[in-house]
Amino acid sequence: MAEDVFKKLVAHCKEYGFVFQSSEIYDGLGAVYDYGQNGVELKNNIKKFWWDSMVMLHENVVGLDSAIFMHPTIWKASGHVDAFNDPLIDNKDSKKRYRADVLIEEQLAKIEAKIDKEITKAKKRFGDAFDEEQFRATNQRVLANQEKWDKLHSRFSKALNDNNLAELRQIIVDEEIACPVSGSRNWTEVRQFNLMFATEMGSTADGAMKIFLRPETAQGIFVNYLNVQKTGRMKLPFGIAQIGKAFRNEIVARQFIFRMREFEQMEMQFFVKPGTELDWFEKWKETRMSWHQSLDFGAENYRFHEHEKLAHYANAAVDVEYKFPFGFKEVEGIHSRTDFDLSQHQEYSGKRLQYYDPEINESYVPYVVETSIGVDRMFLQVLSASYHEEEVPDVNGKMDTRVVLKLPPQLAPVKMAVMPLVKKDGLPEKAREIIDSLKFDFNCMYDEKDSIGKRYRRMDAIGTPFCVTVDHQTTEDNTVTIRYRDSMEQERVDISKLSEIIAEEVSMKKLFAKLK
Ligand code: GAP
Repeated sequence: MAEDVFKKLVAHCKEYGFVFQSSEIYDGLGAVYDYGQNGVELKNNIKKFWWDSMVMLHENVVGLDSAIFMHPTIWKASGHVDAFNDPLIDNKDSKKRYRADVLIEEQLAKIEAKIDKEITKAKKRFGDAFDEEQFRATNQRVLANQEKWDKLHSRFSKALNDNNLAELRQIIVDEEIACPVSGSRNWTEVRQFNLMFATEMGSTADGAMKIFLRPETAQGIFVNYLNVQKTGRMKLPFGIAQIGKAFRNEIVARQFIFRMREFEQMEMQFFVKPGTELDWFEKWKETRMSWHQSLDFGAENYRFHEHEKLAHYANAAVDVEYKFPFGFKEVEGIHSRTDFDLSQHQEYSGKRLQYYDPEINESYVPYVVETSIGVDRMFLQVLSASYHEEEVPDVNGKMDTRVVLKLPPQLAPVKMAVMPLVKKDGLPEKAREIIDSLKFDFNCMYDEKDSIGKRYRRMDAIGTPFCVTVDHQTTEDNTVTIRYRDSMEQERVDISKLSEIIAEEVSMKKLFAKLK
C-alpha cells in the first residue's frame, strides 16, 4: 500500500516537471537525477529556508562556498581514503549487489513492523482505553518480537563496531535473509568498498594528479576554518554553513532520489570550546528537530535514531528520521566530530589550526558539532508528506479524485496562478496586468488553456496555493475570485488585496517564528 503511494509519487514527479532521470534519452544513468521546472523551484525554496534559518537567524553562523575539487591529501587526512567504505555482499544467483548492513537493517525493520501491527490492531480493539506501554510489557507476541529485535540489534551493532565482516555475513545467513531478486540465500563474502569517485587533474604529460570528487561538503569548511575565523574576526562558538554538491559511488542506489550518486548537502560546522561539545550537540539536536517540525508534517512522523556505529570522527551521533512511505529513514545527521578533522589537517598540512581564546589566554584546536542534511532527501520528504489523493466534487458537483500537493506555501514552486475565464473580452490582458504587478514578489504563472476545473487540478498537482480567476465582473469592479488550494474555497476580493493575502502565507517569517 505505502509502496504504491511511493510509485505514484515517483511518476508524479516526472509527469509534473519535478524530477527526471538523468540522461533519459540514452536510457538513463543509475542513481543520477535532474530537477525540472517545478523541482528546481522547490529545491531552491528548501535551500533558502535552511540557509536563512542558519545564517540569517544566527548571528554567529556565516556562509561559505568552497570548491568541489580539493587537494587529495585532504581526503587522506580526513580518513576518507582509508575508511569511507560500505560493506557489500553479492548474491551469486541474481548477481545483484547489496549493502550487508542495509540487508540487516531491513530485517530489523521487518520485526519492528510486526510489533507496530500488533499495536495498531490493539489500539483499534481497545479504543480510548488502550495503554500502549502496558500492552508492550505484557503482550506475548510483542514481547517475543521485541526480544528477537534486541538480540539481532546488539549482535549487529557489535559486528559493525568490531568491523567484523565475517560476522555480518553470518548474521545474514543465520537470519535466512534472501535476495529480493533471485529469492536465494547464495551469498558471497562481505567486502569493503570505497565510495569516493576519483578523477585526474592536469594532463598526463605534466604528471596528472589523482583527485577525488568530494563525498561531503564538510571538509571544505574545515580547511577554511582559519580563513573565516580570522577575516570575520569570529569568536568561539561560531558556525560555518555551506550548501553544495557531494558525490558517492553508492552500491545500493535505489529508492529514487533517496540515495543518489550525485547529490546536494546543506552542512554546518559549529566550532566550540573543548568540553562544551556535548551540550552544543544537544542544543543543535533540538534546533534542527524544530526546523523539521515547523513544516507541520506531524511530530509523530519524526524521530531521533542513535547510530549503531560511530563514524571514525565522532564521539556522539544521531540521525533525524522521517517516516517515508517505505518506513522511517535518515534525513539529517547531527554529529559531534571532536577535534578530529582540524587536528588531522593540522598534522597533514603542517599549518597551525588553533584558536587563541582570550578568556583563558590559551590556544587550542576547537571541537566541532556538525549538522548535515541532504537537499534531495529533504525534497523527497517534503513531497512524501505533501502528496494527497482526495475524493472531491468537481465544478459541476460530481465526485472526482484530485491529486494535490499540500506543500507548505513557502516552499511551493508557483505561489499564484492567474487564469482568465475566457480568452477574449480583455480578460487575458487583465490577467497579465495582475501578473505584471505581482511578479517581482512572487513566482506567478499564467494559464488560459482548458476549462477552469482542469486548470485548478493542474495547479493542485504542483502545489500552487492560490489560483486567481479573472472574469467579466473583474473588468467592471476590479475584483477577482481567489481559490485556496487546500480548502478549495473561493472568495471575491479586490485586486489590490492580493499581494497582502499571498505575502501573509508565503513569507518564511511564519516558519522562522516557530523555530527554537
Ligand atoms: N558530513 C557528514 C556527512 O556527510 P552523512 O550522514 O554521510 O554525513 C549527511 O550524510 C546527509 O547527506 C544524510 O543525512 C543524507 O540526507 C544526505 N546523503 C548522504 N548520502 C546521500 C546519498 N547518497 N544520496 C542523497 N543524500 C545523501
